Amino acid sequence: MKERIEELKRSFTEKLPSLTDKESLEAVRIAYLGKKGYIAELMKGLRDVSDKKTAGQLINDLKNEIEGALGARDEELASAAIEAQIRSAKKYNPTLIPERELGSYHPITLATREVEAVFERMGFTIENYAEIVGDYECFEALNIPKHHPARDMQDTYYLDNGQLLKTHTSAAQNSIMKKYGAPLRAIFPGRCFRNESTDACHENTFFQMEGMMIDENISISNLIYFMKTMLSEVFNRDVKVRLRPGFFPFVEPGFELDINCEICGGDGCPSCKNSGWLELCPCGMIHPAVLREGGIDTEKYTGFAFGLGLTRLAMMKYGVKDIRDFNSGSLKSLSQFKSI
Ligand code: DAH
Repeated sequence: MKERIEELKRSFTEKLPSLTDKESLEAVRIAYLGKKGYIAELMKGLRDVSDKKTAGQLINDLKNEIEGALGARDEELASAAIEAQIRSAKKYNPTLIPERELGSYHPITLATREVEAVFERMGFTIENYAEIVGDYECFEALNIPKHHPARDMQDTYYLDNGQLLKTHTSAAQNSIMKKYGAPLRAIFPGRCFRNESTDACHENTFFQMEGMMIDENISISNLIYFMKTMLSEVFNRDVKVRLRPGFFPFVEPGFELDINCEICGGDGCPSCKNSGWLELCPCGMIHPAVLREGGIDTEKYTGFAFGLGLTRLAMMKYGVKDIRDFNSGSLKSLSQFKSI
C-alpha cells in the first residue's frame, strides 16, 4: 500500500507541469480524485491493510496534496489566460496624449478684453452689472420718463414681475454714480436685449460697452481724446473720428461718433455706404438731470458717457458679416478665433 501511494505521488508530480489547460487539469483531477479514481481505489484497498490508521493517514495526505496542487495550478492557468488576453489586446500606450479639441475664446470676449485693457490703462474701473433691471435704472434715471417716445427706440422685454431685460448698458449708470460718486471713471460691458426681428445686422441679444467719466472740467475734448485713443489701439491704426449730432435723452449734447473707413481710405465704398465714415459709438456729455439723479453735484462736476456697440465692433474687427454667427454656437465659425 505504501509503495502504491509513493508511486501515485510520483506519477502525479511528473504530470503536473504538463497540465497547461483546463481540460487536462480536469482529466487528472478525475483520474486521481474522482469516484473511481486512484484515491478511491486506495481507500477500497484499506480493507486489506493491517495498520489502517497509518495507511489512512497517508492516503489522506496524498489526497490533500493533490487537491492543493491542482487548485494552485488552476489559479496559475486562470491568471495566465488573463495576461495572454491583455497582451493580445489592441496596443495601448499610457504615455500617449490623445489629440484633443481645445476651445477658444468667443470673438465678443476677445473684443471686450481688448477694449477693457485700453481703458484700464487709462485709469477706468471695470464694473459688472445685472441683466435684469428695473424700469427706473433702464429708463427713468436716464431722463426717459414713462410714455417718453424715446422708449420706442428700445423694444423692451418686460418680465411678469415688472422688471425687464436691460436694453442698453446705460442702465447701470445710475447705480455706478451712486456707488462711487464723483470723480469717477468706469466702463461696464454687458449683454443687452431688444425685441428685434433678426437678420444679418440685427439680433435680439447683443453686447455693449458703456463708459463714463465724471470729474471737474470734463469737456467734449476729453470725450474725443479717450474715444480716439481707444479705437486707434483696438483697430491698430491711427483712426480719425468725427462727431455728428445725435439725440439721446441722457446726454446733452449727444453725438454719433464715426471713424474713418479703412477699407476705402475715406473715398467711399459699399462697407461705409459711400460716405467714407463708419458709425461706431453714440456718446455725449451726461445730462445734468442724469448726474443729479445719480447724486452728483452738477455745479462742480461734468462728465461724458458713451455706449460702444461691442458686437458691432467685433463684426468690424474680425470681418463677421452675419451678427447671428455670434449666438449660433457653431464651432465651425467660432473656432476660427483660436489663433487670434
Ligand atoms: N444707450 C444708448 C443705446 O443703446 C447708447 C448711448 C448713447 C449710450 C449715448 C451713451 C450715450 O452712454 O452717451 O441706444
